[in-house]
Amino acid sequence: MTDNDFQRISDLAGRYTGIVLGIQKRDMVYGRIARRVRKLNLASFTHYLDFLETNPDQELSNFINVITTNLTSFFRENHHFEYLHKTVLKEVVRKNSESKRIRIWSAGCSTGMEPYSIAMTLLKYGGFSGWDVKLLATDLDSEVLDKARAGVYSSSEVDGLEESTIKNYFQRGSDGKEVKIKDKVGQFVHFKRLNLLESWPMSGPFDFIFCRNVVIYFDKPTQKVLFERYAEMLVVGGYLFIGHSENLHGISDRFENIGNTIYRKIR
Ligand SMILES: C[S@@+](CC[C@H](N)C(=O)[O-])C[C@H]1O[C@@H](n2cnc3c(N)ncnc32)[C@H](O)[C@@H]1O
Repeated sequence: MTDNDFQRISDLAGRYTGIVLGIQKRDMVYGRIARRVRKLNLASFTHYLDFLETNPDQELSNFINVITTNLTSFFRENHHFEYLHKTVLKEVVRKNSESKRIRIWSAGCSTGMEPYSIAMTLLKYGGFSGWDVKLLATDLDSEVLDKARAGVYSSSEVDGLEESTIKNYFQRGSDGKEVKIKDKVGQFVHFKRLNLLESWPMSGPFDFIFCRNVVIYFDKPTQKVLFERYAEMLVVGGYLFIGHSENLHGISDRFENIGNTIYRKIR
């Protein structure tokens, strides 16, 4: 991979995903794009990039799928789910008691572990029968969305969850190697492919949004635009959960900082 190849990859990633690929990501990029070069039997990275640019319909989604980092886990940053259970749901149930309607968005949901963790928290909280609860879960990467929709995970991916959580919300496969999300969890969750940089078809408003460990890959101007758009999508008083190494300082003044990377829309 030449310097020019890397620059082209970095430009394409920025243009199509918002992901900033600095020079420190060069080895990672090399490994990931090399998979596509081999798969397509091409002679070099330059040939691959020429192919990608002339055949975006065929290759762009594969390029995006290898560029994105999809690390996730069930109940990742568990304090968010505790706060959701203890504070947010109580508040939302009180505020929406007439409409009996709750709208939630998991933006950058990867393989579905985040939205399913939210859905499990709703079920643990209980009392939503007769309510209209919808959880939109979106990602740019079509491969992770396929896995999310299937709701099938290896046993190692649920390691560390309490046995009662596994028993209540997953079915064990007969060979013991896999588990599947139960329908009562999946019923709330609607997966859609959505590029956060493009226009959004939904009108909202959402009661709370999870967008965790996504904007860390974006530059500050992109983050500013995105958080402005999240503010527009949330009800006043609605909550925004972001990743452990992200913050809104100098990015948006439309939220108050509750602590623990939880924010609340104030205007
Ligand atoms: C590290 S994962 C975080 C998953 C989950 N939110 C969590 O914290 O466990 C980041 C996800 O953001 C998605 N992503 C990156 N750029 C995106 C974009 N422009 N639009 C939508 N999703 C994007 C990636 O595909 C990836 O699945």
